[in-house]
Amino acid sequence: MHKILFVCLGNICRSPMAEFIMKKMVSEAGLDDQFEIASAATSTEQLHNPVYPPARELLEANGMDCSKKHARQISDHDFNYYDLILGMDESNIRNLKRRFGESEKIKMLLSYTGDEHDIADPWYYGNFDRTYREITEGCTALLNHLTK
Ligand code: 4NP
Repeated sequence: MHKILFVCLGNICRSPMAEFIMKKMVSEAGLDDQFEIASAATSTEQLHNPVYPPARELLEANGMDCSKKHARQISDHDFNYYDLILGMDESNIRNLKRRFGESEKIKMLLSYTGDEHDIADPWYYGNFDRTYREITEGCTALLNHLTK
């Protein structure tokens, strides 16, 4: 079983996109029973809020229903439970390490692509299509890594 938690600052844009994109890829590969996938925030800024509309619309346009997802903050239980805690940018990684300490579990999503860099926060930068593309690249590389 691969237990993966995607993490970003607010859990209304990038990490929910990663959660639903990864769930769809895993499902299409027939591997649902081998994965447990969720997402959470480092902050409490958007606690309980639904996925931000531009992200939700992109997911819906690509066949994913995220209407039941609401933002939550990562807990101590999450950190112990999940095998991989995947941040979207260096700021997420710093926040995670400040709270939980150094850990092999904490990685950048794009570390699997061979071109590790921040997935810019579309909440501030607005380019949801680029975010979607980068997250798709990250999840594709992650799935290849875990199944090879
Ligand atoms: P996310 O984007 O980390 O990709 O979910 C954000 C959304 C909202 C806020 C920060 C980041 N906020 O501070 O409200």
